Amino acid sequence: MTTYIQTSEQFIRQDPEVEIIASAQRRDEYPIFVCQDESAAVRRLCGEIAGRRVALITDDSVARLHAGRLAHRLVEAGLNVAMTSFPAGEASKSLKTASELLDWLAGTALVRRDIVLAVGGGVVIDTVGWVASAYMRGMPYINVPTTLLAHVDAALGGKVAVNHATAKNLIGAFYQPKAVISNVGYLSTLDGRHLRAGLAEAIKKGIIGSPELFEFIERKHADILTGDLLACAQLVHGASVIKCSLIAKDPYEDDLQRPLNFGHTIGHAVETATGYGPVLHGEAVALGMACARPDRRAPWLAGHGDPATDHQPARTVGLPTTLASLPVALDPDRTVAALRQIRKIRDGRLRFVLPVGLGKTVIVDDVTEEEIHAAVRAARASRASRASGSTRAGQQLR
Ligand SMILES: NC(=O)c1ccc[n+]([C@@H]2O[C@H](COP(=O)([O-])OP(=O)(O)OC[C@H]3O[C@@H](n4cnc5c(N)ncnc54)[C@H](O)[C@@H]3O)[C@@H](O)[C@H]2O)c1
Ligand SMILES: [Zn+2]
Repeated sequence: MTTYIQTSEQFIRQDPEVEIIASAQRRDEYPIFVCQDESAAVRRLCGEIAGRRVALITDDSVARLHAGRLAHRLVEAGLNVAMTSFPAGEASKSLKTASELLDWLAGTALVRRDIVLAVGGGVVIDTVGWVASAYMRGMPYINVPTTLLAHVDAALGGKVAVNHATAKNLIGAFYQPKAVISNVGYLSTLDGRHLRAGLAEAIKKGIIGSPELFEFIERKHADILTGDLLACAQLVHGASVIKCSLIAKDPYEDDLQRPLNFGHTIGHAVETATGYGPVLHGEAVALGMACARPDRRAPWLAGHGDPATDHQPARTVGLPTTLASLPVALDPDRTVAALRQIRKIRDGRLRFVLPVGLGKTVIVDDVTEEEIHAAVRAARASRASRASGSTRAGQQLR
């Protein structure tokens, strides 16, 4: 029998062995504003901050390029702003950085209702979001993305985490931001490689959820890659709508069959196996998407693009879709170890999201160790044949 205790009198009469149900519910909603210049972004920020104290956290590069100036403008607008930064790059998405940030926050005058501002790419947003979730049992935080990847993906959805040597994003939480203020003007300083990596996550959303977005990227990728403000704003707006609608169906991943994970099973393993950094997240996802072939006949890890079924503009924009085009060599043993770790985290099953047409996916969760080893052997063979300058018949090595 289940009993809801209502009065102290009832409490005294209660059989102490009766089950007690505790409940807690929370509904999170937040606005996403897509701006095309910093002045518009500052106006939105001031509206959301509403006079509270601000702890602005960024990385060293973004501090120099944008965040220092942004902090100055917030101070000019009458806000009390403290700012810190940590070294740029995936290696900083760590417990060590998080712990240093917690120490720094403890030295500020911030109280629980003040605001943490995460200004940067996905590394800053994931790390700072997790720190905000922990500090004082949860501080409100606002995301100000500065890379294309963070604009179209990382800033949205409240998945916050740091990496562990054994697995990507192993230590984290679901903790939604108070608002996301995107200024695509910040993309003017981002290099082509990072712009392409960001496009990978947008292409993913087109493939899994929106033929319209996919078609937009096919038509506009050249404008996006040269930083055209309107094209970038339209892309960010469209990708945000799709991500939010996919997430709203299952915000806390109760169902592990998430199409948004397309390209990520192999992608995360590649990032872990290469030591977080040499392969950008978007590049790893592009390879992961190329490896997740709908027919299952293609080797899982070999990454041989098949032009007959390859409808991804990833290759067109210059993203790696084969092992040969990754910026570093992939160690097959470390990749298998990383996949094993992912299997352990995901209830003992490796799930692959496979597209079966634009906007439609199926999930395969019965990939065996043997299939993975076969794929790794194929990857090894393809590397060896590349090294000796030969290509086996029927293989496409780009
Ligand atoms: N939480 C999520 O839902 C989610 C989704 C996708 C990716 N991610 C995570 O995001 C991370 C990758 O993010 P990223 O690719 O943005 O990497 P990043 O944050 O490391 O940024 C890439 C580089 O660009 C620099 N930079 C940032 N903004 C710039 C600008 N405007 N001009 C010039 N340089 C700039 C940074 O200093 C850094 O050196 C990964 O850890 C990935 O797991 C999270
Ligand atoms: Zn991703």
